[in-house]
Amino acid sequence: MNVWSGERRRIYMQEVGTRDGFQSEGTFVETNEKIALIDALSRTGVAKIEVTAFVSPKAIPALSDAEAVLRAIERRPGVVYTALVPNVRGAERAIEARADELNLVMSATESHNLSNLRMIREQSFDGLKQVAALAREAGLAVNISLSCAFGCPMEGDVPDATVLEWTQRFIEEAGARGVTLCDTTGMAYPRQVAALTAQCLARWPQTEFTLHFHNTRGMGLANVLAAIDAGADRFDASLGGIGGCPYAPGVSGNVCSEEIVHALELMGYDTGVDLAALIAASKRLPALIGHDTPSQIVKAGQRLDLHPLPADFAAIRERAAQRGSISI
Ligand code: COA
Ligand code: ZN
Repeated sequence: MNVWSGERRRIYMQEVGTRDGFQSEGTFVETNEKIALIDALSRTGVAKIEVTAFVSPKAIPALSDAEAVLRAIERRPGVVYTALVPNVRGAERAIEARADELNLVMSATESHNLSNLRMIREQSFDGLKQVAALAREAGLAVNISLSCAFGCPMEGDVPDATVLEWTQRFIEEAGARGVTLCDTTGMAYPRQVAALTAQCLARWPQTEFTLHFHNTRGMGLANVLAAIDAGADRFDASLGGIGGCPYAPGVSGNVCSEEIVHALELMGYDTGVDLAALIAASKRLPALIGHDTPSQIVKAGQRLDLHPLPADFAAIRERAAQRGSISI
């Protein structure tokens, strides 16, 4: 039950487990299993699903079946099916496979951009401008994910000015409809998140901003809450809390979808997500990826998932009553 009265503030949940999650798994999840999982996710009420990535299959073998997956999934009205693309080749493949949106990727820092995308940032930007033009011609929306927006594992702090400059160029020169500020390696902290989020929302009120946090240092939920307080309403999260960029040292999973939904609903926000369905989907993961996930909700259950009394409870109570000479 929601303890707050009045209209609940809407928060849009965007599932990235089948892209950010699967890309870093050693096990190849079978194509039909990916499709079934995405179809289940479509029915949970998430606003967007990052289905896959149209990257080099040599670089990310786990997602080499991108076309087959995107073509076969059910398209549920109200859900946006997006795909990550790093270059023109990827864009052509994603358009052909009927993505709703192209999620372009570039890093805020030169070191991570070179490690991840093998180009300097200016080269990436030139290429991504072409990708954005292709997407527009095909009538698709463009989102840009700016990696390492809150810190780089190789360069350290990233000045807000750098993030704002690239954000501006993507919005004004490349025509991006949405921008995702990515905390690729869990370096963000709440005060920093609030400040950068507030600046972006104030400067570009028409742009759809998403916050993408990894829980590497346990600050994921705190960062989500700080961003909400600063006005954000869209969050990437991954089922089971799996995920991570293979080109970012020390990386670990995204904030966990079911943990974030569980917390936000208790706080009176409207995520639009059927939490039980999300948890059921998450429970399918260990069989697919061959190991447990970091999800605390899968381990502990929801807050009011109660446990049976101990088998000898009546006897315990009886003994306690005798000690206290009270009748119960
Ligand atoms: N889809 C399919 N194949 C692609 C591709 C794409 N989008 N982009 C490049 N390739 C292939 C090329 O055809 C080429 O194949 P070949 O060796 O058989 O000829 C090979 O990949 C290398 O291509 P090249 O243009 O030299 O690019 P690169 O080696 O500089 O790779 C990237 C650049 C970024 C495309 C590649 O490294 C990549 O996809 N990386 C994955 C990035 C990623 O997903 N990171 C995590 C998420 S943020
Ligand atoms: Zn990520």
